[in-house]
Amino acid sequence: MHKTILITGGAGFIGSHVIRLFVNNYPYYKIVNLDELTYAGNLENLRDVENASNYVFEKGDIVDRKYIEDLFARYNFDGVIHLAAESHVDRSITNPMEFIMTNVVGTVNLLNTAKTSWRGNEQGKLFYHVSTDEVYGSLGDTGLFLETTPYDPQSPYSSSKASSDHFVRAYGNTYGMPFVISNCSNNYGPNQFPEKLLPLFINNIRHGKTLPVYGDGKFTRDWLYVVDHARAIDKIYHEGRNRETYNIGGFNEWTNIDLIKVLCKQMDVALGNPIGTADGLITYVKDRPGHDKRYAIDANKLKNELGWKPSLQFEEGLAKTIAWYLDNQQWMDNVTSGDYQKYYEQQYS
Ligand code: NAD
Ligand code: TYD
Repeated sequence: MHKTILITGGAGFIGSHVIRLFVNNYPYYKIVNLDELTYAGNLENLRDVENASNYVFEKGDIVDRKYIEDLFARYNFDGVIHLAAESHVDRSITNPMEFIMTNVVGTVNLLNTAKTSWRGNEQGKLFYHVSTDEVYGSLGDTGLFLETTPYDPQSPYSSSKASSDHFVRAYGNTYGMPFVISNCSNNYGPNQFPEKLLPLFINNIRHGKTLPVYGDGKFTRDWLYVVDHARAIDKIYHEGRNRETYNIGGFNEWTNIDLIKVLCKQMDVALGNPIGTADGLITYVKDRPGHDKRYAIDANKLKNELGWKPSLQFEEGLAKTIAWYLDNQQWMDNVTSGDYQKYYEQQYS
């Protein structure tokens, strides 16, 4: 069946993988990628699909009400998959207001416009909000986040995402907006901007630069290969139940320091360096303020209800990720020129 779907943030890391999957799997859909192309948005991520007949790119800001209304009027969307966001915790600590504007105001702007556009004709429509496990806050040494875990966000980033999740549910409850929300753990894979742990460390190892480990390095995250996240979004978009939340995770918990040690070893092998070379770059630095100790997610609802599970073992996913960054050094060089240097100086000097 034909559908016109708006995917926001499609030039970013996860969004580009979602766009690729939808454009390739659903030739009878029209996929509209709306992205403002901030520092994190990069059309290079989509070169292989940019000429597909079922794909359109629109450059614009989700915060701009008039622009969003015009876009909905032009395309008459059947669904929205909303990924556009400011996404990096460290940047949210330096500049929380941008996170409130994009993540909260931008989301409400999309909800308002979808509500008006779909009023009286909600059948078959869906607002899919892509969120994070960080909304649940920080765990102690045991336990897992469930879909019913109370929200307890600790950083400006997670607070802005929690707020946007609440607004999506409020539009469902108050106006009958059909919605689903998914909360995913840390993603890794090709095309991730090198402000996040893995691509930043891969790039630093390549240049023989130090690896800045925050605090004691004993913070725990669950890691999921980005293509598996895109597969989960596809499943939930098509088969998820209206008004439900689905946790997405890799069943794959690592402390930062253990993860970094595996990365260092794989990088030494990939670069043909003696084992221990990258390890020697590890440097403990001042901790991130308010650093969440542990995230761990129970993704069994998604597994049991919709039959989704991660397709890759972590070591295999990491090897594929390293191979991609080493094969695409020009991509990395392009995104680390210019403003990135200033960011790096400010964050790590
Ligand atoms: P990203 O920072 O790589 O990409 C964000 C994209 O949104 C960029 O292309 C950017 O240009 C675009 N954007 C930003 N502000 C915009 C605006 N005002 N209007 C239009 N476009 C705008 O982010 P990501 O890591 O791909 O994350 C995508 C989504 O998934 C986010 O909502 C994030 O909260 C969520 N998420 C991310 C992770 C993760 O590990 N990266 C985990 C769980 C959930
Ligand atoms: P990050 O990739 O920023 O994701 P998030 O904060 O959303 O989980 O960081 C992952 C973990 O790695 C987190 O515990 C912070 C830590 N980290 C470092 O130790 N050094 C760094 O330079 C970065 C960017 C992160």
